[in-house]
Amino acid sequence: METIGIFYGSTYGMTEKVTEKIKKAFGRAKVDVYNLNTASPEDMTKYKNLIFGTSAWGIGEMQDDWEYFIDKLAEIDFSERKLALFGLGDQKEYPESFVDGMGTLYCRLPDKSCVIGQTAIDGYDFYFSLANKDGKFIGLVLDEHHQKNLTDERIKKWVAQLKNEFI
Ligand SMILES: Cc1cc2nc3c(=O)[nH]c(=O)nc-3n(C[C@H](O)[C@H](O)[C@H](O)COP(=O)(O)O)c2cc1C
Repeated sequence: METIGIFYGSTYGMTEKVTEKIKKAFGRAKVDVYNLNTASPEDMTKYKNLIFGTSAWGIGEMQDDWEYFIDKLAEIDFSERKLALFGLGDQKEYPESFVDGMGTLYCRLPDKSCVIGQTAIDGYDFYFSLANKDGKFIGLVLDEHHQKNLTDERIKKWVAQLKNEFI
């Protein structure tokens, strides 16, 4: 498998912590991690396999660093790349905008055909999410506030899926 580049935006460090867990779950595969607040589009173009992570901030809002970065994605040719998304949220406090950050990130991608790593929506309790597309989440969904005990297993399963879907 080609090297993986993970790019995350994190306000209070929860997405950052989860990013490290995802990296570990890949085992011996080569994974580089970037905090988006110091990353550039050139950093992204080094990788054929990409993972983007964001938390959610209000109805439809991505984590701030993604808001600043998102237009720069137009500089990247995604046609020969694979991209997986993961999102953090809080399904009890924000059940009507659960993990909307990841949903908006997906909506604003210049090319969605490269996106892999969809997951089942079963096992979460929410009313509405922009990350729900045709009955599936468009990436991995984690809730460190109310389902922290499920995070490791969810990551393990998702990473096994990505190992089959990445280049
Ligand atoms: C002001 C505020 C607004 C939030 N809005 C949402 C939201 O709309 N949907 C959601 O799922 N989570 C929402 N959250 C929860 C965060 O996404 C969650 O705490 C996340 O784990 C933070 O990750 P970070 O520290 O990496 O930024 C919100 C949290 C705060 C404090």
